[in-house]
Amino acid sequence: MSDQESEETLSPEHSSVTTSAQQPDTADIVIEVDDVNFSYVKGTEVLRDITMDIRKGEVTALIGPSGCGKSTLLRCINRMNDLIPTAAITKGEIRILDTDIYDPKVDPIELRKHVGMVFQKYNPFPQSIYENVAFGLRIQGIKKKPILDEAVERSLKLAGLWEEVKDRLDSSGLGLSGGQQQRLCIARTVAVEPKIVLMDEPCSALDPISTTIIEELITQLKEEFTIVIVTHNMQQATRVSDKTAYFYLGELIEMDETIKIFNSPSRKETEDYISGRFG
Ligand SMILES: Nc1ncnc2c1ncn2[C@@H]1O[C@H](COP(=O)(O)OP(=O)(O)OP(=O)(O)O)[C@@H](O)[C@H]1O
Ligand SMILES: [Mg+2]
Repeated sequence: MSDQESEETLSPEHSSVTTSAQQPDTADIVIEVDDVNFSYVKGTEVLRDITMDIRKGEVTALIGPSGCGKSTLLRCINRMNDLIPTAAITKGEIRILDTDIYDPKVDPIELRKHVGMVFQKYNPFPQSIYENVAFGLRIQGIKKKPILDEAVERSLKLAGLWEEVKDRLDSSGLGLSGGQQQRLCIARTVAVEPKIVLMDEPCSALDPISTTIIEELITQLKEEFTIVIVTHNMQQATRVSDKTAYFYLGELIEMDETIKIFNSPSRKETEDYISGRFG
C-alpha cells in the first residue's frame, strides 16, 4: 500500500504490543477498555465501569439483552459515537495498540482506517462491486489501477466472494443476494487492511446458509484481524468466538473463554441469560 503516512498512528510498529519484550499476559492485547463510563446525554450513563482486554487474533463476542449497551461499546471503539454531539466517554480510557483513541491528537478518520465496522443491515453503495471494494482505497488517494485491482481481488477472496463475482465486477453491488452483499461489505472493510473489525449482528438479516458462510469467514479472518462481534445468537457466539463478554444494563457482568461462559459461567446472571431463563 502506498500511503505509508497513514501508518503513523496506531501502527503496530509504534506500539509496545509488538515490540516490547513481552509479558505473555499483556503482549497480545489490542484493545484495552479501561474503566469506561459512557453517556449519550449528560447524567445518564448507558455504560458503566467497563474494563476489558481484547486480544490479537481472537474473536470476542459481546452478548446480552437488547439495550444493554453492546452496540454503544462497539461504536465507542471506532469513535462513531462522536457523531452524536452530546455523547461522551465520561470516565476511563479506550486504548488501541497503546494509543488513547480519545486523545485530541487522534484523528477519528485515521482511527477508522484501523478499526473497520460491519453493520447488521448490509449497506453496499449504489456502485459497482469493484468500486464498493475500492472505495476506502480511493479515499486514501490510491489511484493506480494495478494496486486497486490487486486489493479488490485480495479483499474479495478474503471475504469468500471472489469466485462468485469475478466475472461481473462492473455490475452493481446492489444486484447481489443479501449474503453476498454482506460479504461485499466485509470485503470493503478489509480492503483498507484494518487491524480490528467490529461486527454488529452481521448475520441477523441473513438466511442460515449465508450465516454459515459468514461464520466460516469470521474464523478465517481472525488470523489477520482482531474481531469483535455483537450477536444475539448464542450458538453463533459458541461457534465463532474465543472469548465472550456478557453485558446487562450497561455493565459488563462477566468476560471469559467462550467455552467457560457457556459451560460454567461464574455469575448466575450469565447462566440465566445463556440458558434462556432471562432476556
Ligand atoms: N443515539 C442514541 N441516543 C440516546 N440513547 C441511545 C442512542 N443509542 C442507544 N441509546 C440507548 O443506549 C442504551 C444502549 O443501547 P445499545 O444500542 O447500545 O444497546 P444494544 O445492547 O446494542 O441493544 P440491541 O441488542 O437491541 O441492539 C439503550 O438504553 C439505548 O436506548
Ligand atoms: Mg445493538
